[in-house]
Amino acid sequence: MRIAVFAGDGIGPEVTEQAVRVLEKLDLPGLELVEGDVGGAAYYKHGHPLPQQTLDIARSSDAILFGSVGDFSCDNLERHLRPEQAILGLRKELGLFANLRPARVFPGLEDLTTLRREVAQTIDLLIVRELNGDVYFGEKGMRTLEDGRRQGWDLMSYAEDEVRRIAHSGFKAAMTRGRKLTSVDKANVLETSQLWRDVVIEVSAEYPEVELSHMYVDNAAMQLVKNPGQFDVIVTGNLFGDILSDQASMCVGSIGLLASASLAEGSFGLYEPIHGSAPDIAGKDLANPMATILSAAMLLRHSLGLEAEAARIEAAVAKALADGIKGGDLGGSAGTREIGDAVVERL
Ligand code: NAD
Ligand code: IPM
Ligand code: MN
Repeated sequence: MRIAVFAGDGIGPEVTEQAVRVLEKLDLPGLELVEGDVGGAAYYKHGHPLPQQTLDIARSSDAILFGSVGDFSCDNLERHLRPEQAILGLRKELGLFANLRPARVFPGLEDLTTLRREVAQTIDLLIVRELNGDVYFGEKGMRTLEDGRRQGWDLMSYAEDEVRRIAHSGFKAAMTRGRKLTSVDKANVLETSQLWRDVVIEVSAEYPEVELSHMYVDNAAMQLVKNPGQFDVIVTGNLFGDILSDQASMCVGSIGLLASASLAEGSFGLYEPIHGSAPDIAGKDLANPMATILSAAMLLRHSLGLEAEAARIEAAVAKALADGIKGGDLGGSAGTREIGDAVVERL
């Protein structure tokens, strides 16, 4: 069992260190961790945010544990050299098309979200975000028009096979949960979304037990705050899923809690917190590592088939929170390492 560990930039190394401590504490036989450079750190060392040797490590591993990438000192680089290209490149190169982002309220946090307790405690949802297409990967450019105005553009598109495979991911996830699937799009305006909706409806014929509904993304953003308990599984495109998942994270308390799995066909996957490199708190022992620790749990479950060990990690995180171990993101004072210690102790 070989796990690639790509810590990246900002708080990435800090939160990844704690997740690695948790994995090592489990003392799994035959587990090998291999580090690789990504993001701004890789750019400064190798001249590229996703060097060939990092891709080689990824390809020869069973799964990837990823921290975060992003460094404002790289904001003026050509786009293909910016840190974010590391995560986008890994998702695309490795065919990681299905991004699972679960959100639920941990016991003890009901009063710490930005929603009222009675609303917050109803949340137990899963966002299934498409990760290989949409406006993220369409043709893009910047030019100066004849009249001197600058114009930027990014093509939004989905081919039907791309929608079909993520729709299957959404329905399959719903079958393992509450059997409700909400497909989120903007079909009232976008052709991309009209195709999305048509294909999701076609695929639904194969899942008669799943109750399918459709929602426009603007309404979905509102409903997530108004009545989040109505959602079981949400399936949506790359951009809408990015935005809605950050929103969902605050509905359950903090972006420092939301883990994710980015899956290819088969068992291979990349696991990362949904948050970024948080330059405002980097290097200060202020980041909450729980999202990354929970991502390591998802890794054990999905890529290595170690359900019991995954559940142990999740229980340890839940116990730490119930015992009042909270970082600044949740109004507490525990530092990154202290939170790691607390989870390790409770394993
Ligand atoms: P961000 O998620 O890094 O931070 C947003 C806010 O949440 C900040 O106030 C930050 O301090 C806080 N925060 C994030 N993670 C936290 C944690 N674990 N504990 C406590 N607080 C936390 O988003 P941003 O500021 O918009 O982006 C910063 C950089 O990260 C950018 O370069 C962006 O491109 C990059 N980014 C990378 C990823 C990724 O690697 N997958 C994801 C999102 C953003
Ligand atoms: C995320 C991030 C990335 C995305 C960025 C860093 C490319 O926001 O993983 O949610 O937009 O997918
Ligand atoms: Mn995001």
